[in-house]
Amino acid sequence: MTTVGIDAIEIRTGKLQLDLAETFAPAQDEDPGKYTKGLGLHVSSFPDVYEDIVTMAANAAHRLMERKGLTPDDIGRIDVATESAFDNSKPVSTYVAGCLEQVYDDDFHHANKGERKFACIAGTQSLDDAYNWIRAGRNRGRKALVIATDTALYARDDPGEATQGAGAVAMIVDEDPDFVELSTDQGFGSADETDFLKPNQQFPSVDGKRSMKVYLARMREAMEDLERAGVELHPDDFALIPFHTPFPGMVRKAAALGYRHVCRDTDVELELAEEIGRQPRREEFKTQEQFFDAIEEYTDALTETERYEDWYADTIEPTLEIAREVGNWYTGSVHVARVAGLKHALEHDRDLTGAQLLVASYGSGAQAEIHAETVADGWKAEIEALNVDDQLDRRYDISFEEYERIHDVHNHDTDDYADVEELTTPSEEFVFDGWGRMGERKYRYVR
Ligand code: HMG
Repeated sequence: MTTVGIDAIEIRTGKLQLDLAETFAPAQDEDPGKYTKGLGLHVSSFPDVYEDIVTMAANAAHRLMERKGLTPDDIGRIDVATESAFDNSKPVSTYVAGCLEQVYDDDFHHANKGERKFACIAGTQSLDDAYNWIRAGRNRGRKALVIATDTALYARDDPGEATQGAGAVAMIVDEDPDFVELSTDQGFGSADETDFLKPNQQFPSVDGKRSMKVYLARMREAMEDLERAGVELHPDDFALIPFHTPFPGMVRKAAALGYRHVCRDTDVELELAEEIGRQPRREEFKTQEQFFDAIEEYTDALTETERYEDWYADTIEPTLEIAREVGNWYTGSVHVARVAGLKHALEHDRDLTGAQLLVASYGSGAQAEIHAETVADGWKAEIEALNVDDQLDRRYDISFEEYERIHDVHNHDTDDYADVEELTTPSEEFVFDGWGRMGERKYRYVR
C-alpha cells in the first residue's frame, strides 16, 4: 500500500516578539519565574500591523510551494484550520488562494477549499481529512495543502495572556511523503466540555485551571482508545512525542500522566518499583481521594527518577524548543512541536529515519487525538530547508506600550488602529491591505 503523509512543511511566525520575563512580567507585577519556569515560556510571537491569519498562512504556503517547485495546478485541496477566523461564511482558504493566485500564472479554481474548526485540534483534523481524501483515491494525483493559522490572543489581563502567540504552519500532504508517514493507528478522547470557548466573540472565555484538567482527561481517553485499537504503547518505542503545547508546563504534566499510564504492568514499572514502589491501584484504597493523593505522590517520585528524566530529555524536551520562543499557536502548535523535535534531532546528529513518533493533539471543547507516525527518508532535507531560526531572530522586540497598541490593532472591536504605524518593513510577502466594499479583507504582495 502506498504511504501517505506530510511531504513538506513550513513555519511562519508573526514578526513581533514580546519578552515575557523582561517586558511582560514587570508590567504585570509578576515574578518572571512564573512565565519562564512555571509555564515554561520565554517569548510570545505577535503579528505586526499588516499581518493576520491570512498573510501568515499565505506566506508559509508560498515559501513551501516555491521550495517544492509546485504551482496551483499541483494542489487539489486547500484546508485551513483556524479558530481566529473573521468571517462566518467565507473560508480563510479562499483568501489564501486569492493571495497565492497573485503570484502564480495558474489558479486554484479546481481545488476543493474548506475551513476546519475544533479549537486547536482542527489542524490535525485537517491532516486527517487530507489523508483520507488521498487514501480514498479522490485526489487524481494532486496534493493537499493543509494550513494551521492562528492569532492566539486573550483579553487583556486574562490569565491566558501570558500564553499568547501568532503563527502559521503549512503542510503538503501527498503519497510517498518525504517528511513523515501517517498511520491508521489513532485514538480519540472527546466530550462536550466548556473549558475554553468563543461564543461569537474574538477572545476566549476560559476556565484556565479546568482546561488543564480537561486536557489531561481527554488525553487519557485517547490513549485508552488507541490501546483498544490494538496498539501497544511502550514509552521506549517512540523517538519523540510531540504534544499540543499551549505552554510547556502543560506538556510536563501530560507527559508524566502518559508515561505512568503506559508503564503500568510493564517491565518499566517493575524496574522502577525497586526505587519508588509499584503504581497505586484503585482497589488498594478506601476512597477515591486517597487514591488520587497516592497517584500524585507516585507521579512526583516518578518524575524525579533518572529513567524518567532521561526519557523526558530525549522524547519530550526537544519538542518544546520552539514553543518556548513563540507561545501558543493553537491549531499549529502540535505541528510546531513535531518540527522542533526533528530539528533538535538533526542538530544533535540523531538519525530518526524510520523512527516512530506519537503525536498527541488536543483542542478545547474538547477532544484529543493520539496517532502514530513514521519518520520518512527525506526528513533531514525538509528540516534543513526551514528558516525558522532566522525568522525568530529577526523578530522586532516590542516594548509594553507597543504591545498594548498591537493588541488593540488586532482586536476586532476597536477601530482606532488606522493610525498605528507598522514596526517592521514588509518585503517579498503578502500583507493586509484594508477592507473592500463588502467588508472583506484585502491583501497584496509586496515585492
Ligand atoms: P495562572 O493561574 O495565572 O498561573 O495561569 P499559575 O499561578 O497557576 O502559575 C502557573 C505555573 O507557574 C504554576 O505551576 C505555578 O506553580 C508556577 P504548576 O503548579 O501548574 O505546576 N509558578 C512559578 N514557578 C516558578 N517561579 C515562580 C512561579 N510563580 C508561579 N515565581 C493558566 C495559568 C494555565 C491557568 C493560564 O495561563 C491560562 O488560563 N491559560 C489559557 C488556558 C490554557 O492554556 N489551558 C491549557 C489547557 S487547554 C488547551 O491547551 C487548549 C488551548 O490551546 C485552546 C484550544 O484548544 O483552542 C488553550
